Amino acid sequence: MAKITLRVNGKTHALDIDPSTPLLYVLRNDLDLHGPRFGCGLGQCGACTVIIKGEAVRSCVRAVSTVQGADITTLEGLANGGALHPVQQAWIDEQVPQCGFCQNGQILMAKVLLDRNPNPSDAEIRKWMSGTLCRCMTYYRVQAAIKRAAKAMAGARPEAKASAHTGGLDSIGAEREVGV
Ligand code: FES
Ligand code: FES
Repeated sequence: MAKITLRVNGKTHALDIDPSTPLLYVLRNDLDLHGPRFGCGLGQCGACTVIIKGEAVRSCVRAVSTVQGADITTLEGLANGGALHPVQQAWIDEQVPQCGFCQNGQILMAKVLLDRNPNPSDAEIRKWMSGTLCRCMTYYRVQAAIKRAAKAMAGARPEAKASAHTGGLDSIGAEREVGV
């Protein structure tokens, strides 16, 4: 065991933990942050993605000792107070989630993409997102949501679909209390 200090979603946490523990386990089991999901546990599916220093990181294969002191953002940290991040809002407007399991990775990958490239082409979106797997095949809606979020972030937000359902809101970090 070792003393490890983590900074997650703007809060500092002091932990006494095995330094080789995967970051994903610490987020879910010690910090009660369930946005990142355990999919493959091998760094191959993207369900466990978090953002560290602007990079999308697969937390299932990252030892917690390697991210001490770094600013870590999980899905729960995307919303700003009561306002959803434009990517989260686009996910609702485009009704992206199906079962929801992969959506943490889809959303965080989309955010990192738009932070780097505010107006990606369809081909650029497909290439960037290609390693983030969805067994429900939501890929077309993911692409549409990224385009919508890009417009919103550029200040030209389109109308939300009137019939947007609310299923799967927990999978985008928008359950009852936003980002909790
Ligand atoms: S659970 Fe981490 S990449 Fe699949
Ligand atoms: S929404 Fe079910 S795995 Fe992607």
